[in-house]
Amino acid sequence: MSKQKQIKTVKHTRDILPKDFTTDTSAHSHKFQYVENVAREAFRRYGFQEIRTPIFEYTELFARGVGEETDIVSKEMYTWRDLGENNTPGAGASLTLRPENTASVIRAYIQHQMWVQSDLAKLFYVGPQFRREHGRKGRFRQFYQIGVEVIGKSDHPAIEAEVIEMLAWILQELKIENTSLLVNSVGCPKCRPLFNERLKEELAPKLAEMCGDCNRRFETNILRVLDCKRDVEIVAQLPSIQDLLCQECQTHFSEFCSYLDARQLKYQVDPKLVRGLDYYTRTAFEIVTTNENLGSQNALLGGGRYDGLSETLGGPPTKGFGFALGLDRFVISLPETVPDPSTPTVFIAHLGKEAFDFALLLAKSLRQAGISCALDFEGRNLKNSMKLADRSKARYALIIGEEELAKAKFVLRDMVSREQFELTEAELLEKLKN
Ligand code: HAM
Repeated sequence: MSKQKQIKTVKHTRDILPKDFTTDTSAHSHKFQYVENVAREAFRRYGFQEIRTPIFEYTELFARGVGEETDIVSKEMYTWRDLGENNTPGAGASLTLRPENTASVIRAYIQHQMWVQSDLAKLFYVGPQFRREHGRKGRFRQFYQIGVEVIGKSDHPAIEAEVIEMLAWILQELKIENTSLLVNSVGCPKCRPLFNERLKEELAPKLAEMCGDCNRRFETNILRVLDCKRDVEIVAQLPSIQDLLCQECQTHFSEFCSYLDARQLKYQVDPKLVRGLDYYTRTAFEIVTTNENLGSQNALLGGGRYDGLSETLGGPPTKGFGFALGLDRFVISLPETVPDPSTPTVFIAHLGKEAFDFALLLAKSLRQAGISCALDFEGRNLKNSMKLADRSKARYALIIGEEELAKAKFVLRDMVSREQFELTEAELLEKLKN
């Protein structure tokens, strides 16, 4: 170690590493890859196409899209002023690292006039998001989301049930258990103001007993009072939004539920589920888990309908529905062992200079035939090479020494069954391909 001061990751951010380099199983990169692969397979089956938006945008996008008064925009964003003309510090536009991806996707939908090509754009994204968090379990300042957005002309509740059906498949495929689906309707611009009025009437006389957050939310975003984890007794007495929905919202919600029923997807209606972003209308949902490694941050994913977000961002009248799952939280909830795609199929143990040169070219042929293989660049004896083969978790070890080279036949050892085979190069390729 040199005498220079070491530089580490910023507080509440972390490195996601290959499993060999950390014992923290929640930071194993192959697990992130595994969840992503399963999700990508689901997106293929359900017809979603990938979108990648910049990780920073004009601050105004999130201020208008997510809502000035939300915790995300008011407290959690990483915002800075760009350089202005002639590189004047602080004189440029206000920019923000994206705290979520829905606003950016809608911005892109409008910017590229996607409605011209398609009545319904079905998009997915995978990538980092940034929120200034303070180190609670399951909350990171840079975290990863996988999300989808269905944007266009239709607000059919079957779209919502289909997206949730896809999520149920992803969870099942990943063997993530102990989850519950919570659903609610947060109403529309017609009925929500009436509900907010009712909340105001009920809460005004009780404000003095309530926490600071509730007092602030009473003024700025009263619906969010329902999410308070401190004044639970007062919140429990409040009217239910489910009883005050307009006829259209009621019909939409009951159809949504019947589409879930038809798919035998289990859910609980939670009238207190209001979500932390302002753009939602009608259906809102979350999938929560009882996994204790996540503490109170039990939402694995959340989403809902956001008809009207396009108009807020200067676009045409558009319907939208989507979700984002917390990849870091999914990884924490996975079973202990999951397939690691970086595990080689074969480890080549070579003995002597001639064997090494041969092994290098054989590795090339194997890799070009689609077989993953590893080899070591140090000259080791057989015992140490086999130790490395063991550690690599390769299914096979291939032994090449002078004798094998002379015979042009190599020893392939099955590391699981311990069986050994003597094979020519062609036989070897054939066997490993299968
Ligand atoms: P969100 O509820 O803010 O919704 O985030 C979705 C998920 O991201 C959460 O359920 C959680 O799993 C994960 N998450 C959020 N913050 C953190 C954090 N600091 N550390 C780790 N994981 C976190 C949205 O972002 C909406 N854009 C979802 C959406 C898409 N709605 C419609 N379309």
